[in-house]
This record gives sequence, structure tokens and C-alpha cells, in this order.
Amino acid sequence: MTAVTAPALVVAIDGPAGTGKSTVAGRLAERIGGRTLDTGAMYRAATLAVLEADVDPAGPRAADVVEAADIRVTADDTGHSVVLLDGRDVSVEIRGDGVTAAVSAVSADPAVREKLVDLQRTHAGSELLVVEGRDIGTVVFPDAVLKVFLTASPEARAERRHRQNLASGRESVLAEVLDSVTRRDHLDSTRAVSPLRAADDAVVVDTSDLSLDQVLDRLTELVTERIGAIQ
Ligand code: DC
Repeated sequence: MTAVTAPALVVAIDGPAGTGKSTVAGRLAERIGGRTLDTGAMYRAATLAVLEADVDPAGPRAADVVEAADIRVTADDTGHSVVLLDGRDVSVEIRGDGVTAAVSAVSADPAVREKLVDLQRTHAGSELLVVEGRDIGTVVFPDAVLKVFLTASPEARAERRHRQNLASGRESVLAEVLDSVTRRDHLDSTRAVSPLRAADDAVVVDTSDLSLDQVLDRLTELVTERIGAIQ
């Protein structure tokens, strides 16, 4: 008899920077009663470790630094991710420009990805987990109960990031944000290992002209349907 494996209790939310993945993941988890995992925060913490060690983010020693680093990501009561690097809370530091500029190089290293993917998989369990990233539906949880790929035009995404930066008190120039978003998309989608792409069975949602509630309504409906089908 062939064993039938149940789908992982995971909702995968992938897509490029600025499509609203974090907000959608947090609000969806609230609505359906699950936890969230921000995998981008893990790659950012790994990058901070590399920069602090004064090692070239694109060089061969970056993976050694990441291998030795203790990276943990949890969510606080409000669903915001808390990121610990060797026991230190680096949640704010990992959003800085230095990390943002170097993160694509560090996350393109296969050894770095292997360590972080293993770590990400330890978070799945008996409680529903909403995981956001770039390769969640394609690589990390290919058996996720629902895979969502969020897209939006580069302009809409840059505008969102720009507003987020200003709201959190960081300096921001829209044209520079658009440049950085486009550059990072290109690097993330053209890298050899686990490039950013929608899984064949992902539901693609273009958020350019949708309100947050419209996106959430659609996803809540899909999750409810799928979970209902496996329980
Ligand atoms: O979601 P974010 O912007 O915080 O992600 C930071 C970077 O990490 C992004 O440029 C690509 C990388 N990343 C990745 O390669 N795989 C993931 N699952 C999540 C993020």
C-alpha cells in the first residue's frame, strides 16, 4: 500500500520585495489563527553576521560565517518577527541599507540556503504556519496546503517600501527605492539556486490594484477550502 502524506500545515507566500508579503502573512495568520515565519529576516540576519565579521558578502567565506552564526526568528504577540543573532535582538538593524544592499549576494550562496532552509523546516508543526519568502512553495515546503505568489508592478512596490521607510523614521528617496527593488528582483530571480519564481501550483495574486482586505478575503477563502478538504 502506498503511504499518503498529508500536506504540510503551511501557507506559502512568495513574491518579490514590496508586494505586501509581510502585511498579508501577518493579517492572514491573525484571521485564520496561525503563526507566521519571515524567512527574509533569516537571510537578513545571516547578512548582518557576514558584514559584522568584515567578510565579502559575495565571497567564499560568507557561508563559513553564516554556518557559525546562531540565527533565530520568532514572532511577538502582535505577529511582528523578532530576529536574534547569537542571542542579540537585531530586528531593527537587519532592515538597514547596508544589509539590504548585501542580502541578495549572501542568499545566493547554496551553503547559506541549505542551512536556512533546514532551520525554516523546523518551524512547521501541528499549528498552521504562514511562511513568507521567495522559495517557500518551490523548495522549502513544496507540500504546503496553499501556495500564494504575490506580484505587483515595480512602481507600486517601490511606493509601498518608500512609505514603510518613512513611517518607520528612515530616510527614503523614491527613485533610489525603485532602483534597489528592481536590482534585488533581478538578482533574486536570476540566481542559480532556488530563484524567485511562482510554483506551478501557486495562486498568483497581483496586488497593484487590490486593497489589503480584498487580498485577505480571497486568501482566507482559499485556506478555509483547502484545510477543510484535508481535515
Ligand atoms: O523579504 P525580504 O526583502 O526581507 O528578503 C530579503 C532578501 O532575502 C531578498 O532579497 C531575497 C532573500 N530571500 C531569499 O533568497 N529566500 C527567501 N525565502 C526569503 C528571502
